[in-house]
Amino acid sequence: MKLTLRIWRQNGPSDKGAMVEYKVDDVSPDMSFLEMLDVLNERLILDGEEPVAFDHDCREGICGMCSLVINGAPHGPERATTTCQLHMRKFKDGDTIDIEPWRARPFPVIKDLVVDRTAFDKIIQAGGYISAPTGAAPDAHAMPVPKPDADRAFEAAECIGCGACVAACPNGSGMLFTAAKVMHLGLMPQGQPERYDRVVDMVETHDDLGFGGCTNTGECTVACPKGISLDTIGMLNRDYLRATAGGAKK
Ligand code: SF4
Ligand code: FES
Repeated sequence: MKLTLRIWRQNGPSDKGAMVEYKVDDVSPDMSFLEMLDVLNERLILDGEEPVAFDHDCREGICGMCSLVINGAPHGPERATTTCQLHMRKFKDGDTIDIEPWRARPFPVIKDLVVDRTAFDKIIQAGGYISAPTGAAPDAHAMPVPKPDADRAFEAAECIGCGACVAACPNGSGMLFTAAKVMHLGLMPQGQPERYDRVVDMVETHDDLGFGGCTNTGECTVACPKGISLDTIGMLNRDYLRATAGGAKK
């Protein structure tokens, strides 16, 4: 396949940045999107040019590091996939592809396509933990968990922290991520001691970091590679109301 790539190049956080056009003409449909960028970068390096900086780690859809807006869609045109699991067979010979970083105020660009997602770490630090007594690990069956609760907690725990929900949201809200992190602990018995402090602290930190408010547009769940549903935000809202209006805590 021969492709035209228009890629966001930005030398550093204070650089203005611009789209730069590149041609690639030896792309196999079996390559992943990141392998296609590897081909471009190998050529740029051989030509003595600066390679395009982009984030990746596992390349298996697990780590949440890959983060590209491809033709305007976070993680590209295929639903329920990460950029690293997107393959070039989803594109046609002769296509022009726009590649940009996540665009959101709390995710400043570090270089080219790499953004700083420390803001997500700060939300986790605000409440994404449980208190656990030290000592030997308890028996696995010492604390029974109803199957429906375990399933819903597991679904929420699938969030890989990629940030596509923020990049997709017209408000730049990180509420789907926050809700997933709040609920995967809040649905389990082990998460109950901090349950109502957790939801207030994580939502307040989310807002303080400059993420926008959720207005239920649903773009987040469409872009999410792990299928985190809007119900998760509904559960977060219920816990938040109990914590603040209902006087459960705080
Ligand atoms: S909720 Fe989905 S889109 Fe948002 S960070 Fe988690 S996995 Fe990524
Ligand atoms: S590189 Fe790990 S999820 Fe894409």
